[in-house]
Amino acid sequence: MHEPVKIGICGLGTVGGGSLRLLRGNAGEIARRAGGPLQVARIATRRPESVAVDGAAAIGGDPMALARDDAIQVVVETMGGFDPAHAVVAEALARGKHVVTANKALIAERGNELFAIAAKNGATLAFESSVAGGIPIIKALREGLAANRIEWLAGIINGTGNYILTEMAAGGRPFAEVLAEAQALGYAEADPGFDVDGVDAAHKLTIMAAIAFGIPLRFADTFTEGISALTPEDLTYAEELGYRIKHLGIARRSAGGIEMRVHPTLISKRWLLSRVSGVDNAVVVKGHAVGTTLYQGPGAGADATASAVVADIIDIARQLRAGASRPLSAPLNGRPEAEAPPAVPMDSIESECYLRIPVLDRMGVMAKITRVLESHAISIEAVIQKEVHGGSVPIVLLTHGVAEGRMNAAIAELQSLADVQGRIGRIRVAPFPAGD
Ligand SMILES: NC(=O)c1ccc[n+]([C@@H]2O[C@H](COP(=O)([O-])OP(=O)(O)OC[C@H]3O[C@@H](n4cnc5c(N)ncnc54)[C@H](OP(=O)(O)O)[C@@H]3O)[C@@H](O)[C@H]2O)c1
Repeated sequence: MHEPVKIGICGLGTVGGGSLRLLRGNAGEIARRAGGPLQVARIATRRPESVAVDGAAAIGGDPMALARDDAIQVVVETMGGFDPAHAVVAEALARGKHVVTANKALIAERGNELFAIAAKNGATLAFESSVAGGIPIIKALREGLAANRIEWLAGIINGTGNYILTEMAAGGRPFAEVLAEAQALGYAEADPGFDVDGVDAAHKLTIMAAIAFGIPLRFADTFTEGISALTPEDLTYAEELGYRIKHLGIARRSAGGIEMRVHPTLISKRWLLSRVSGVDNAVVVKGHAVGTTLYQGPGAGADATASAVVADIIDIARQLRAGASRPLSAPLNGRPEAEAPPAVPMDSIESECYLRIPVLDRMGVMAKITRVLESHAISIEAVIQKEVHGGSVPIVLLTHGVAEGRMNAAIAELQSLADVQGRIGRIRVAPFPAGD
């Protein structure tokens, strides 16, 4: 009989609590897959009274003491945030312990440093649960698609944002109203900033791009735009033009390097991704050999996320039992910054764009708009002009591909026209052909 692999869990909130329940509730099957039993030997929680003690786990309040406990082989960090998570993870790795974390902010923003500590000390830092919850997208990118040159990936990787857009489209309701409802239902945090501003999605995109393209984690280079400026009319007009609007994270290999961006995006209604609704997540990956693959499922929640946390624990237990002296998987399949392709600056990325321009219903307005666009060498692919709203009419148009910087200059000029009555809405079109 194998000795149990000894696990310590820091933080018993949604994910930590779910992981403990899953480890206990499916212990037999998990032990079979892990090649022997796993034992939760220590727990760090600020609410020890909330833990159903099973006799096996020592319970305390200090996660750093857990990271320093020589008996613990695998530290599970499910506290979130940077403090104390960063210090706890760094300490555990420096001691050669393996770490499993669900913390995308920590991996995306401090991962380069933490993977270096892990590599130096022969430890594994596993993070499957940090991206798209229960969907095993990290494994798919790193192992399943390892033979491919990844061309691009695109994902709906924030469930709260996708729920809000789905409800806005279905009911024609404004952003603020649907957000309040999502908060009441518990889908959105009391402070929904990270979700609706796109930061959470940018963390996840940064992590996927690092693996897919073999680059360091470059959160600072990921362009991020949220969904709060979208109107229900945008979703309706997009539908008329043959598109749906999704908050997408896109990473793409191009001539100048690697593009990384998170923003509301028009995607063809013919794309499967356009039909991913509610709190679900989905990621499409295009590899040169395999073609296009789609991964869809629950992107959050206690059980779904625990599924990914425990899968990482099982991987590590197998690795320990196989007697591997070094981590079996390279941290990110990365390479030094100097050898990696550069990040493409957002200003030079070309997109077709949807523009919604609220104008006074006057003769000659369309001609003025066309002149401004022409002066920036922007050509129009389609136009729809809508009914009057109290003297103001939205002109909705779709442009051909234009570099971001040029489009920004054109929007600034249009915005200054006396006929333009309110903020111009701009939504980029996905850079992939439908069916690709
Ligand atoms: N929720 C999801 O669906 C989901 C999905 C994917 C990834 N994640 C990631 O998983 C991590 C945890 O998220 P969560 O939703 O489980 O959060 P949560 O419910 O707020 O739980 C976090 C727990 O961490 C512990 N904790 C927080 N600050 C601490 C401190 N200073 N010292 C000691 N313990 C501390 C607390 O545990 P005690 O109450 O036991 O003290 C708290 O309950 C985050 O990085 C999040 O981004 C979450």
